[in-house]
Amino acid sequence: MAAHDQSNGDSKLANGETTYFATNPRPASLDEHISSLTPFIADHVRKHNRVALVTSGGTTVPLENQTVRFIDNFSAGTRGATSAEYFLENGYAVIFLHRQFSLLPYSRHFSHSTNCFLDYMTTSSTGEVVIDDEYQAQMASVLQKYERAKREKMLLLLPFTSVNEYLWHLREIAMLMRPLGADGLFYLAAAVSDFFIPANRMVEHKIQSSEDFAHANHGSSLGIGEERAPAAHMDGAKLVIDLDPVPKFLKQLVDVWSPKSMIVSFKLETDPSILAEKSRYALKKYSHDLVIGNMLNTRKYEVLFVSAAGGDQWIRVPSSRRSKSVTAATMGEVRQSTEMPLEIESLIVPEVARLHSEIISNGRSR
Ligand code: PMT
Repeated sequence: MAAHDQSNGDSKLANGETTYFATNPRPASLDEHISSLTPFIADHVRKHNRVALVTSGGTTVPLENQTVRFIDNFSAGTRGATSAEYFLENGYAVIFLHRQFSLLPYSRHFSHSTNCFLDYMTTSSTGEVVIDDEYQAQMASVLQKYERAKREKMLLLLPFTSVNEYLWHLREIAMLMRPLGADGLFYLAAAVSDFFIPANRMVEHKIQSSEDFAHANHGSSLGIGEERAPAAHMDGAKLVIDLDPVPKFLKQLVDVWSPKSMIVSFKLETDPSILAEKSRYALKKYSHDLVIGNMLNTRKYEVLFVSAAGGDQWIRVPSSRRSKSVTAATMGEVRQSTEMPLEIESLIVPEVARLHSEIISNGRSR
């Protein structure tokens, strides 16, 4: 367990939230991550730097303890990884809590693309492996920024996979960030599961689909807390999955874990007619600082800022600067120099930083 007292952290919680951490296992990676987080945060407290926790990527819901099958949440990690770069450009130190193997700041420019990473390289006349001329300029520019972030110890990368790992990390990091006071910022872009299988309802071994091996499906659960029927089980040839709700921890983050920080949540919808209403509802319910609403299909070029201070405000990439219609690779030289694609995060992050400055200079009024 971490050194700090967690009892006050749980005292105001509603039922599901109180029992969650007592009945779902602490991830093995947490202690190692705390040992990187502690000096990282202390260094930036000492330097009076602002620190953003950027969460990114989707959380999984394992169906078995020794996980073969899992349910996933949609997110490539583009929003988080891109935003992290702009936070660094805006002077923030960044804790990047991300889904393992999702996009990372800086390397995202060259990973997960249609290119294999080997396509960026070529062999010189002397047989050495070098970066192909076509990519030299872009790679040099990205590399410089990455090296600077590393040299100045401004970026800490922490991976998670399951929703349980995510929630334990969120709570721990939030409490470790308390000494930052109002200089702390939570930018919750990860796609967090709303439903999961609690530890005491998870089977240990791979669920057997063959009826001939059905007897092996009654493996032990983790044995934490009271045992209930397995949540994922075979019913004849059908796999039946019965998920519990994941408690919403945003309220605890705002009220208890990190009350002085600026807290920004994202709201993802697919039906445009409810985006604004649901974003306002979330802001009212959790009383945090900002909800950024986005639609699955348009999230790369428009988002809706909903805040108590600023009301509703759309942020949009002009159509001439959207990457689908303008790509540097296909346009002529003149057009490229004036109409380079614009990443919406380059508009979102400075606006978040501006609101953060307002909160810091006005004092917290939540
Ligand atoms: O990575 P990309 O492909 O670029 O996609 C980015 C994105 C669309 C995933 C991102 O911009 C985004 O919208 N992320 C939030 C997705 C999400 O979890 O939305 P939600 O409506 O389910 O949850 C709203 C908020 O509640 C979230 O900030 C989440 O942190 C919080 N939450 C969610 C579930 C839960 N059990 N507890 C929570 O506190």
